[in-house]
Amino acid sequence: MTTAVCPPAFPSTVTGGVIHRFRDFLPVTAATPVISLSEGSTPLIHSPKLSGLLGADCQVYLKFEGLNPTGSFKDRGMTVAMSKAVEAGAKLVVCASTGNTSASAAAYAARAGLVCAVLLPRGKIAPGKLAQAYIYGATVIEVDGNFDDCLRLVRELAQEPGTAIVNSINPNRIAGQKTAAFEVVDALGDAPDLHLLPVGNAGNITAYWLGYQEYKRAGRARKLPKMTGFQAAGAAPIYYNQVVPHPETAASAIRIGNPASWLGATGAIRDSGGAIDIVSDEQILHAQRWLAAEEGVFVEPASAASVAGLLRCCSPERCDRCPFRPLPLGATVVCTVTGHGLKDVATILSAGFQPHPAAADKAAVLKILEKCR
Ligand SMILES: Cc1ncc(COP(=O)(O)O)c(C=O)c1O
Repeated sequence: MTTAVCPPAFPSTVTGGVIHRFRDFLPVTAATPVISLSEGSTPLIHSPKLSGLLGADCQVYLKFEGLNPTGSFKDRGMTVAMSKAVEAGAKLVVCASTGNTSASAAAYAARAGLVCAVLLPRGKIAPGKLAQAYIYGATVIEVDGNFDDCLRLVRELAQEPGTAIVNSINPNRIAGQKTAAFEVVDALGDAPDLHLLPVGNAGNITAYWLGYQEYKRAGRARKLPKMTGFQAAGAAPIYYNQVVPHPETAASAIRIGNPASWLGATGAIRDSGGAIDIVSDEQILHAQRWLAAEEGVFVEPASAASVAGLLRCCSPERCDRCPFRPLPLGATVVCTVTGHGLKDVATILSAGFQPHPAAADKAAVLKILEKCR
């Protein structure tokens, strides 16, 4: 009798992830060990309602980065940064974080077998993100200060031998993050006319702009988008062109007063003909709920900043200084929604939602449903 040997469902080599998909555009060689969780290849979701609101035959798409392995866009850069850290012989990786970088760093360090220390501003991290850092085994250090203080400390720590910094000041992070722009072009067949995204430390807007330019140079795209960033009104150093010593916003992921990639962001905005603008916390939280209730896409507050800006420009009174009007007829617009809504549910649960109590019988449930129709 012969015994059939089933081939493994997946080959043992890495088959997914941004390094696998975009190797030729990334700073890796055959000698680089690939630390991947099959990040990237996130969906570009058409938004019929945002398209309709914008009018003029414009089409709006959401690049849903919350569907990365740790629930945010950070994984794209983390796979490259962590792979290069292992290649360089690092034993310890460190980062400052408003939450998502720490979750991502902790996961990829676990995968790589490296020790990971994350420095977080005390009391300012969404519980879901903190839980991620703990469960992936990072050493969580709560700093008595804000994100900018944490980043200063991390820069100092990175001078210790065998230590790699995995914040977006590490160019390998930016290199990995630019792959989101490649995916947008691959999905649409060209770059969009306008790309909107939230801005905190400003690494992502910098990375997208690099990605779009690189893909155009490689002949994969014919045009370049106008890059438009949105900051929370209480944490808007780029918009006001001055450091904000005590940034405040409900969108904790972008509560940053002195962005490390400030120059990268202003370069992207200037060279693309885009803009930087602000949205209030109220507009951000409204956009978060609107996106979930109208389009079925649940994102964390910071991620809704770009949609908040878009919604404001679609409102009947249309802001007179809307950063991206007029749009060409039939323009393609992409909003990056950077992180998953499940990471930060405290604001939602404290917003007064209440279940309808019901007896355990059909009539009682039907009575409630009648009122909902
Ligand atoms: C969910 C989310 N959106 C947006 C941002 C801002 O990205 P960047 O710091 O690259 O500007 C962050 C940064 O932590 C984030 O976690």
